[in-house]
Amino acid sequence: MVDKKNDINQVVSIEVADDYALICLNNPPVNAASQLLRQGLQDAMAFCTAQSDIKAIAIYGAGRTFVAGADIKEFGKPPQAPFLPELVNTIEQSSTPVISILHGTALGGGLEIALGTHARVGIKGLRLGLPEIHLGLLPGAGGTQRTPRLVGIPAALEMILSGRHVPAAEALELGLIDQLCEGEARDVAINAAKDVLAGRLKTRRTDQITVKPNHAHLDEVEAKLMATQAHLFSPHKCVEAVRASSLPINEGLKVERHAFMECMDTPQRAGLIHAFFGERAVSNIPEAKGAAREIAKIGIIGGGTMGSGIATACLLAGLSVKLLETAQENLDRGRTTITKNLEGAVKRGKLSQDKFDMVLSNLDGSLEISNFSDVDLVIEAAFEDMAIKKEIFTKLDAVCKKGAVLASNTSYLDINEIAAVTKRPEDVIGLHFFSPAHVMKLLEIVVADKTAPDVVATGFALAKKLRKIGVKAGVCDGFIGNRILSYYSKTASYLVLEGASPEQVDQALERFGFAMGPHKVGDLAGLDIGWMTRKRKAATRSKQDRYAGDVADKICENGWFGRKTGQGYYVYDGSDIRPNPEVRTIIEATRTKLGITPKSFTENEIVDRYMTAMISEAVRVLEDKIAARPVDVDMVFLFGYGFPRHRGGPLHYADEIGAEKLIERIETYAKDDDHYWKVPNLLRDMAAQGKKFADLNR
Ligand code: 3HC
Repeated sequence: MVDKKNDINQVVSIEVADDYALICLNNPPVNAASQLLRQGLQDAMAFCTAQSDIKAIAIYGAGRTFVAGADIKEFGKPPQAPFLPELVNTIEQSSTPVISILHGTALGGGLEIALGTHARVGIKGLRLGLPEIHLGLLPGAGGTQRTPRLVGIPAALEMILSGRHVPAAEALELGLIDQLCEGEARDVAINAAKDVLAGRLKTRRTDQITVKPNHAHLDEVEAKLMATQAHLFSPHKCVEAVRASSLPINEGLKVERHAFMECMDTPQRAGLIHAFFGERAVSNIPEAKGAAREIAKIGIIGGGTMGSGIATACLLAGLSVKLLETAQENLDRGRTTITKNLEGAVKRGKLSQDKFDMVLSNLDGSLEISNFSDVDLVIEAAFEDMAIKKEIFTKLDAVCKKGAVLASNTSYLDINEIAAVTKRPEDVIGLHFFSPAHVMKLLEIVVADKTAPDVVATGFALAKKLRKIGVKAGVCDGFIGNRILSYYSKTASYLVLEGASPEQVDQALERFGFAMGPHKVGDLAGLDIGWMTRKRKAATRSKQDRYAGDVADKICENGWFGRKTGQGYYVYDGSDIRPNPEVRTIIEATRTKLGITPKSFTENEIVDRYMTAMISEAVRVLEDKIAARPVDVDMVFLFGYGFPRHRGGPLHYADEIGAEKLIERIETYAKDDDHYWKVPNLLRDMAAQGKKFADLNR
């Protein structure tokens, strides 16, 4: 019988029975190992180990989880004692046996606390992991030393480098936990303590296990990392730390600590942590939290790549979908694409084969818009043409039920103008998906002047249901992402006109961290898309705008649209990709025609120009209140445009450069083209006030 309860502090309490004690960690929402939790746990351990009648200690978590890691909010601030590594050592060195009861998640520092205890009991549904790598770190409280002691070097390294959540059954098989059971954490803790006292649950110190060195495996992994992730810092440090696990533990822990502190000091760590919180911050706004409308039935207009991708995403989220097309053959093509997408989801483990038929049975096709009378939300993904959109929305207004949300997936067009053709502009919103829509995580939620608050909340609720990152955007040509893209992509073309080669530009940006340079992206998306847009916009182009499409137009005139035609900026020959020699000729001819004497650019100069252009337009997007905060711009780029996550996003990266330096760069570039390069007022104000974009997020 537990007979005494004692609050150590606000987040840690102890219950003492005749011969054992329970330590409860209660730091909602995820029991992060904050200073208060560490202090409480240290004091609780001191209290328990000082009582000679306490013969076993069980640590468990209150609420939905055991400890989900160190408190990430503390990173980047001056560290405060007690420190997690020492606390784990204290637990491990306790002569009273200590067991941990793990439910929900035991991640990072949470798993490291558990590794320091003398036995681990998991509760069904538990997931364990060392996800520090996703934050630009390595496990820094003994994880790189104690995990190999329990599971061996290869399994430990795989866990640490992937950061994946290991399911409970696998953890038991690996030897990461000693038992797996069902029940409430506190009940399991009582039983486990009694089992230890009765000798039914064996305990041992992890630090007393020795690790067999495995340098061959470590060398192999490091070589692979050098080939694929040479630009990232922490993966290499993880290997270095795990390599030290075959040393006596104190030496290994020293290597780990040093490597952890090195990672902590990197901009990559700051960028990745910004991404972690940013991902959550975009929907942490009042507009996203209001009452949303019920959505179960979705109508999708257009069965092309985009419409089919959106339909796939909705079906995967358990929604029922009506797909509208203009002709039976288009409808059939849409259904085939969706079926293929779902088959791909099965292959990737996102959908079980059992559920495949059921999910597909939720898809219905139609050639009549009148069949949309019962849908809760329509997403129009038809051709990008204002007249077509207006016709569709007029019809939707006539047939859709009262309260249905009418959304357009337009990438550029004015949602206010579209809404104006209906008698219910308050129900109209932009929901801008990114292709392939069932894979890409970003959803721009474009709020028009008259969009009702519950329609905005519905947009965010849909994003959550589809497991996408919803970001609020205002109405303008291209919203947040495409408006910025339209601007900075010209820089890539100007660089080529002025002397760089397309592959040199691509390589510089790939080394910066983009998965693909802009010319490779153009080839993949199809160069004809940009060509059509340039032709469409030709009449409205300002005379002062320096044309950026000379080279791309010539490539397209040859019928070279990129990958799908076998050549574009590059020639595609099976898996062989090489620069297109004909493009070099086109570039040289264009330079001659324009009277440009080519100059040479270093890799840094290319990156600086490209990033400065991206940042400049991102700042104007903030000035125009198209994005509410810098973090919204950052997340749009991370989740929609392949911006390297470890750089945190364009405006997080801008803080690394600083407002003054950015102004200096823009003013230098403006000497050659003062129409394109202009210093945004906000940037000048920030430089004058010594402000950072991070300050504008607060
Ligand atoms: N520190 C501080 N806050 C955290 C946190 C952490 N470790 N983990 C989650 N949170 C916060 C989130 O920011 C969010 O706050 P909000 O409500 O204000 O937006 C709240 O807790 C709930 O988190 P989620 O919305 O992510 O909840 P989910 O249920 O979707 O996911 C989770 C829960 C799987 C635990 C997920 O939050 C997660 O993966 N957390 C990070 C885990 C992690 O990376 N741990 C390692 C930390 S580094 C470390 O331990 C270093 C050590 O080796 C020394």
